[in-house]
Amino acid sequence: MLASGTHKIDLVMRKNIVAGNWKMNKNFEQAEDLVADLTEYFEENKPKCEVIVCPPFLYLEMASDYASESSVLNVSAQNVSAYDNGAYTGEISAEMLKGLDISYCIVGHSERRQYYNETDNQLAQKVDKLLDFSVAPIFCIGELLEERESNNHFSIVKEQLENGLFHLNADEFSNVVIAYEPVWAIGTGVVATPEQAQEMHAHIRELITEKYGDKIANDTTIMYGGSCNPKNAKILFANKDVDGGLIGGASLIAEDFVKIIESF
Ligand code: PGA
Repeated sequence: MLASGTHKIDLVMRKNIVAGNWKMNKNFEQAEDLVADLTEYFEENKPKCEVIVCPPFLYLEMASDYASESSVLNVSAQNVSAYDNGAYTGEISAEMLKGLDISYCIVGHSERRQYYNETDNQLAQKVDKLLDFSVAPIFCIGELLEERESNNHFSIVKEQLENGLFHLNADEFSNVVIAYEPVWAIGTGVVATPEQAQEMHAHIRELITEKYGDKIANDTTIMYGGSCNPKNAKILFANKDVDGGLIGGASLIAEDFVKIIESF
């Protein structure tokens, strides 16, 4: 279970979430402007879903300060070390994230898997470390274009789930959010069709049912990510197994991010 207190999340329930993954973008001033704009906007306009921003590590403290004054904004890191505090130069631990009152952390984004060779085994360790400190993992899964073209997308996603998450017991698993992000859709402008998204989300929920049972599967939040924008968000989010979005490029502009959030 996640610690209560200042956390606004109660992950045991399934919910709609829109999260902005800023990746390695913005200088400090631009980052603060974006967080300030979002905070101010949502004071007046309550969203119908949970809102998360995922800035680079250096801006987490600033974002967390804004979030502590906001009834809407939550903060996520983009990555975490697989290890406890110690001699790991350049790394950031789950304990450090917890110390800044960070609620979520992205794990296994395809850019980390591709460019930093993060393995399923490392990702499983990262998930464990986050759960040790009550930070909720946003666990990313998704197939490459050639894997979809060779009709292996369902088995790839199954493998990623089994290797990265299915070592958890049911209580632990209840604190995880899943993001299905087909790699061919990330940053390409080629979005999955609503049918492709729904089909894969239903598959993921079915795999969770087989492992943990109906109740937990129905309570799991599964977001879609990959070229989601203000124009296509509504039709994607309308699918019964799509519980929101992990947004890259379109989360860098407050107006676009707000429009996506208001698709709910
Ligand atoms: P995109 O990125 O929205 O820019 O395609 C999504 C992501 O990588 O999380």
